[in-house]
Amino acid sequence: MSINLELPKHIAIVMDGNGRWASSKFLPRSSGHLKGLRSLISIVNKCKDIGVSYLTLFAFSSENWKRPAEEVSSLMNLFVNVLEKEINYLVTEGICLHVIGDITAFDSYLQSLIKIAVSKTSANNKLHLTIAANYGGRWDILQAVRSILDQNNSSILSNCDNDYDLFVSYLSMSWAPDPDLFIRTGGESRLSNFLIWQLAYSELYFTDVYWPDFNTIELEKAIKWYKSRERRFGKTSEQLLDGCKG
Ligand code: IPE
Ligand code: IPE
Ligand code: MG
Repeated sequence: MSINLELPKHIAIVMDGNGRWASSKFLPRSSGHLKGLRSLISIVNKCKDIGVSYLTLFAFSSENWKRPAEEVSSLMNLFVNVLEKEINYLVTEGICLHVIGDITAFDSYLQSLIKIAVSKTSANNKLHLTIAANYGGRWDILQAVRSILDQNNSSILSNCDNDYDLFVSYLSMSWAPDPDLFIRTGGESRLSNFLIWQLAYSELYFTDVYWPDFNTIELEKAIKWYKSRERRFGKTSEQLLDGCKG
């Protein structure tokens, strides 16, 4: 078997389990989100330090609006506080911030903070940190189709070899390679509408550890597991070995 020893270029994470972490400690769910933020900061730092180029984090799904209003508003306040406090950190650490999802649903102050943070960090390239906020994979595919139809005449998709590249160029993360490693914390084995197009060939790692307990050691475990996988992309193991020899 030819195993894949390279560091993943792109890691995508569903940061799940904040609420259950809090409940297990008889704390309000908002404490779980706050503690989850510390995990986020340490994982961002670690990825930057070890040379991961792209880190994409699911922070708020298009379905999370269905949660109790109090929880939604505590999450929105957390986003505002983080952006107010951490923009300079992102700038000085060389982190380029991207936000994917329909941010027009957020209040205008949060939208403006996002735009400022994205623009102030746009020249950085040490780590591309993407936050998925009010994001859904189905929304992403639909917005791509709508934009193609809006911006082109109807014959643009013509059943030719370029159709794939054209379509992908309209997806939210068209500028990034697809995730190599997908991690979901919190014990669930589902995608929950995250990057459903882009995850087609990612290695999927599920752990029971709640996101607030997910530390750099847990990240190293996930990366070690990733490095033990054989990525065949439809080929056979023998073909991969032949490719190595050639
Ligand atoms: C993930 O943790 C954070 C968000 C969805 C914003 P959850 O809040 O989903 O935590 P659980 O799954 O209820 O434990
Ligand atoms: C996915 O977690 C969304 C985020 C982590 C932001 P959920 O907790 O919303 O997913 P489900 O509802 O368990 O599928
Ligand atoms: Mg959850």
